[in-house]
Amino acid sequence: MSKTYARIIGTGSYLPEKVMTNHELEQIVDTTDAWIQERTGIRERRIAAEGQTTADLAEQAARIALKEAGVAPEEVDLLILGTTTPDIVFPSTACLLQHRLGCGDCAAFDVNAACSGFIYGLSIANQYIQAGTAKTVLVIGAETLSRMLDWNDRSTCVLFGDGAGAVVLRADQTPGILSTHIHANGAYADLLGADVGVSRGFKENEKNAGLRVHMRGNEVFKVAVRTLGRIVDETLKANDMTQSQIDWLIPHQANLRIIQATAKKLSMPMERVIVTVDKHGNTSAASVPLALDEAVRGGSVKPGEHLLLEAFGGGFTWGSALVRY
Ligand code: ACO
Repeated sequence: MSKTYARIIGTGSYLPEKVMTNHELEQIVDTTDAWIQERTGIRERRIAAEGQTTADLAEQAARIALKEAGVAPEEVDLLILGTTTPDIVFPSTACLLQHRLGCGDCAAFDVNAACSGFIYGLSIANQYIQAGTAKTVLVIGAETLSRMLDWNDRSTCVLFGDGAGAVVLRADQTPGILSTHIHANGAYADLLGADVGVSRGFKENEKNAGLRVHMRGNEVFKVAVRTLGRIVDETLKANDMTQSQIDWLIPHQANLRIIQATAKKLSMPMERVIVTVDKHGNTSAASVPLALDEAVRGGSVKPGEHLLLEAFGGGFTWGSALVRY
């Protein structure tokens, strides 16, 4: 029997209307456009409007991806949403979205793997399709991280933005996703997180700092560069491929310098790397599908090309997917 692959048959993305530039941030915290651009590559990011939630962003991206794929919502038999910023504690944002889209009674769940949430979702979807358990899967990454930023903390608030990206996957005899690789190491939890929640309580006390992202950026940076280098090796080895066979690197958009380091590891010129961090900032789980959709829509990525998707985030979590588009 021939192997079944998960093929990307549609992509979509959505960004909130409000653009926040570095110059606007100069009015809020002690920072400069020059510092932000030099250290991160970010020029501007989008911020969700008041009342606009993660599900709202996810819905727009998902509708576009379904339309591009020519797939009706009822055909979706699994919906996975990567997010760290769910609308409410429960039901999951995936369930809220499933109902809005009219996906029938397909399984729907959120994946919280911080910035790696979309890659984790893609990996799960790939396993379901390869096992023959699902045929048509909607995978989304959507975030409203602006809601849990400390707008007095210049070391974090300048980095993040809001947005959503989605893909529709379908079972096919031609590849498809060639492999996915996901990992985590909870030993690094103190370096990056938001330390409040249901069980610990949402109130600020001496043990937590309220609902806001904290990060020891410099240390995260070093682990991210090392770890992403390793996952690139792991992915190529698993597919018996060499660096030169990768057509496009579609990385998590946290910091231009981290992206450049991974491109260097692949000996890849920056012209073959999809970069959106300048316009989007770090949109966490939304960043990879947003970049993928931009690349598809802009005509960069062509059918048959090999794409290496990778992400790194809080947890730490990290992962990759090698895709023949
Ligand atoms: N404007 C001006 N100065 C600033 C700002 C700012 N916005 N933020 C920090 N600084 C200052 C610091 O206070 C420090 O000053 P000091 O030297 O007087 O102490 C100086 O700039 C250097 O700070 P560093 O933290 O060493 O700067 P670095 O070059 O490491 O850049 C950054 C910081 C951009 C955060 C970088 O470390 C980074 O990108 N880290 C990784 C982020 C990441 O990948 N996160 C993972 C995904 S996120 C997720 O999972 C939700």
